[in-house]
Amino acid sequence: MKLSVQIGKLKLQNPVMVASGTFGYGAEYAQLLDLNKLGAIVVKGIRLEPVRGNPTPRTVEVASGLINAIGLQGPGVDGFIKKYWPFLKTLKVPTIINIWGTTVEEYAEVARRFDALGGVGALELNVSCPNIKEGGAQFGTDLKLLAQVVAACRKATKLPLITKMSPNVVNIAPFARAAEDAGSDALAVTNSYPAMAIDIETRKPKLANVTGGLTGPCLKPIAVKLVWDAAQAVTMPIIGMGGIQNAADALEFMIAGASAVAVGTANFYEPQTALQVIAGLREFMQKKNINDVRKLSGSVQTGK
Ligand SMILES: Cc1cc2nc3c(=O)[nH]c(=O)nc-3n(C[C@H](O)[C@H](O)[C@H](O)COP(=O)(O)O)c2cc1C
Repeated sequence: MKLSVQIGKLKLQNPVMVASGTFGYGAEYAQLLDLNKLGAIVVKGIRLEPVRGNPTPRTVEVASGLINAIGLQGPGVDGFIKKYWPFLKTLKVPTIINIWGTTVEEYAEVARRFDALGGVGALELNVSCPNIKEGGAQFGTDLKLLAQVVAACRKATKLPLITKMSPNVVNIAPFARAAEDAGSDALAVTNSYPAMAIDIETRKPKLANVTGGLTGPCLKPIAVKLVWDAAQAVTMPIIGMGGIQNAADALEFMIAGASAVAVGTANFYEPQTALQVIAGLREFMQKKNINDVRKLSGSVQTGK
């Protein structure tokens, strides 16, 4: 039975990774599961300089989901290389580094630094963050900015580039095409959805940052549709995510058009979820006589 998939020139032993921001830098989970059984580890977003993040409370549970406003806390490129890379580089599974910046130039510089490091599996561009030079517009919801960021990173590195899409667009198709045209090797669909929760007694927002990003099972049907829409628009591989809790959820994403998937919020309450998804995929394939996981991708029968 073949579980391996290809994301650009990056080969994964299986299509199940862990999503950025929900798995620290890998080491935090090393006692809880065998990291070498994963498809890949995607680390928390990193920009050039260290970031303290937002004041607390930074997370709040809602029905079937979580809203977070961590504020992209991170050690910066140097801090990551010093503190976290020595462990990650000993693993057999690839590390995908989620990167971001406040300008196009910063993205490119971070990409250059990780290209020079050697041994990195791929870069995932988190474009759901504001551009300080252009009045705070998000890179991922502005076609021109998105194309600029991807093209600048493409110039800066030969590493596979995964563009992590924002769900906060009317139609994902032109954004998916813009990323592909600018040199992205794959898409990650989707990032969190803008959201808010209020304490009715105090009438205060439940997050110190007022608003945050919604993730978890309530996001799944939205994310599956985004994957399906993106799969109609581009030929590059798509990594599907949003509320995956088990193999059935992962299969939905693959059948909609994803070549691989990522487990996010579920890692917080069941750190073994990604391994359970891998085992469940095998079981499903055996039962259905499918010898190659790639045959599942985009196999949805819409009747259209
Ligand atoms: C606490 C938290 C932190 C996150 N941090 C990042 C991040 O740094 N960069 C990024 O691209 N996505 C980040 N995400 C988004 C996830 O990688 C993923 O796209 C999203 O949570 C949807 O998957 P899920 O519903 O399985 O969690 C974060 C999500 C959560 C819950």
